Formats: sequence, structure tokens, C-alpha cells
Amino acid sequence: MFNETVLKEINEIRAKYPDRRSALLPSLYIAQREFGWLSHEAMQFVARTLNLPEAEVRGTASFYAMFKHKPVGRNLIQLCTNVSCMILGSEGLLDFLNKRYGVEPDGTSGDGRFSLVIMECIGACGTAPAMLVNTDFHDNLTEQRIEEILEKYK
Ligand code: FES
Repeated sequence: MFNETVLKEINEIRAKYPDRRSALLPSLYIAQREFGWLSHEAMQFVARTLNLPEAEVRGTASFYAMFKHKPVGRNLIQLCTNVSCMILGSEGLLDFLNKRYGVEPDGTSGDGRFSLVIMECIGACGTAPAMLVNTDFHDNLTEQRIEEILEKYK
């Protein structure tokens, strides 16, 4: 399932730790980077590679919000709708994302370009509303700014 390069990368991480469990999170991260999400097969492969019980791998993967358990679009938008962002317009931005890009919370646009999830506070209350696109942080959001930002993500 993993190519030789990825397998080598995981084994190098595993070799750094006396306890192979310590390599689990980075290995899951690598699996998600390779496939875009963590399928049952991807978690099985991580379990076999690290010689860990599958239940432990699934349990760890399901605990962290950063791991996705169904296919996602090429770019993942994580929009905060917590108090500060809500007061400063994130609900309207959700409507805008739906109308302009055809993407709803926990959904993916028809063209596969964007998936959207709602986040709790991401620590940018002073410059709300805020979002992440993949691993990039963006704040002071308006509809116009979102259009400018998302232009970069094809
Ligand atoms: S409430 Fe949105 S960043 Fe804090």
C-alpha cells in the first residue's frame, strides 16, 4: 500500500524511539499526507508496519481531529465559528462559502476542490473571523478576502 519511500520514512521514524508507539502519530500523519485521509486499509498498514494492534491505531487516529476518516477535497478549509468569530460574521461566511464554492460543513464541493469543517476557537479571537486552509492560517476574514485567499488553492 505504501511505496518504498514512505515505508522507509516510517521505518526511520520508528528507529528513533525505544517504544514503537511513539512513532504512531507521525506515521498516521504520513499516511494521511499520502492518501488525503485515513482509510481502514491505511490504518491497518500503519498497524502492521509498527507492529501495533489495529484497535490501538484506530483508537489513536479517532481521538485527534487532525485525522480525517473519510475522503476530503484537495484543500481543507477549517473555519472557526466560536464566539468571537461568530460575533464578527463567521455565520455569514459559511453562507458565502456555500453559495460561492458549493461547500457545506462536513461536506466537499462538487469539483473536489474544497472540504469544509467547523472549528472551535483557533486562538485568533483578536483578529477574528479566522480559518485554516490546509496548514495555512488566515484571519480578518471577509467575503472578498476569502475569495482572494482561496484563489491560491486549486
Ligand atoms: S473564536 Fe474564532 S479564533 Fe477564537
